[in-house]
Amino acid sequence: MDAAFRKKNGENGTQCSMYLEEQTSKAAGVLSCIFSLKEEVGALAKALRLFEDKGINLKHIESRPSRMNKEEYEFFVSVDMACAKALDEVIDGLRAEISGNIHELSRNKLGDKVPWFPRQIQELDRFANQILSYGSELDSDHPGFTDQVYRARRKEFADIAFNYKHGQVIPRVEYTEDERNTWGVVYKELKTLYPTHACREHNRVFPLLEKYCGYRHDNIPQLEDISRYLQSCTGFRLRPVAGLLSSRDFLAGLAFRVFHSTQYIRHGSKPMYTPEPDICHELLGHVPLFADPAFAQFSQEIGLASLGAPDDYIEKLATVYWFTVEFGLCKQGSEIRAYGAGLLSSFGELQYCLTDEPKIMPFDPEKTSVTKYPITEFQPIYFVAESFEDAKQKVRGGSPPPSPGRSL
Ligand SMILES: [Fe+2]
Repeated sequence: MDAAFRKKNGENGTQCSMYLEEQTSKAAGVLSCIFSLKEEVGALAKALRLFEDKGINLKHIESRPSRMNKEEYEFFVSVDMACAKALDEVIDGLRAEISGNIHELSRNKLGDKVPWFPRQIQELDRFANQILSYGSELDSDHPGFTDQVYRARRKEFADIAFNYKHGQVIPRVEYTEDERNTWGVVYKELKTLYPTHACREHNRVFPLLEKYCGYRHDNIPQLEDISRYLQSCTGFRLRPVAGLLSSRDFLAGLAFRVFHSTQYIRHGSKPMYTPEPDICHELLGHVPLFADPAFAQFSQEIGLASLGAPDDYIEKLATVYWFTVEFGLCKQGSEIRAYGAGLLSSFGELQYCLTDEPKIMPFDPEKTSVTKYPITEFQPIYFVAESFEDAKQKVRGGSPPPSPGRSL
């Protein structure tokens, strides 16, 4: 089952996701295809005769009005894998004999491996033990690598994340004076740039976070307070994470409007540098935008498209995420402003991204999704969105699909 099919059958794909689960668990070796027919008497009978003529016994058939064309119905059929060759002939027959009536035809080997994906928000709990790096295991070039106190502290944060379960209150953390000082340096520096460099959505929300969530230079806000506030704004919520998740797992969280947030802070010896996401990056860069309805919808759209997708598609989505949610620019009137969290949490790159030095290109999922990028230096290319709504529509399927049914 592909993302496009899920989208056609419900914004959140719930219906189809449940069906997919049933098929993959009980019916290994099932082939499926989707075709559309004009709504007219006898059209389905004619199509089904093709299956009958080839001796194919349908194991499952569903129909529903097409969302793409009001004059059509979509049919989803499953057949046994043993009928693969015959199904090819039926597909050829559908194309030849009902030409003009077939709007779309796609097939997918449901019996083959469809990557597991969460169907319920509680299933995000499974990701806690699947991080790519443990919170206290630092690389040798990490500023805190030789600092045993810092590493012990990182383990405390990692344990909170490992033990956290959906629905629980996120444990409050008593940050040390050193940690608050580090936060304060970052907070004060970045705040001077926001009025001139951040997008209007960020600038609209930031004072509200100061008012309701304890955003201050001398206070590191608590994830639980922010999560509650975001839920009241857009339904987004935070859950603590011990380290880096795989792109697949991280994006799946977005599908449920869940943002995996680190809770630890960078090492105090280099307050303006971090080799990994930390609470400064999450709270100053990401959180304000998740309080904006259009951005929240855009983020969830990327997450939904990732559910059950093959690896190559996940890589494309992760690249789109990188160039938008992390390093995106957007037009605002006659100006260009930053909305990506990687920019809004970096004093140096936030200034650099709006200079003439980097290359600026219009956001186009097809091109953006295959653009290479460095992860340890300022970006040489940024993509500019017309608006979050426009970016969402483009991700949803405004451009031609590179593979059957998918929109990037
Ligand atoms: Fe980030």
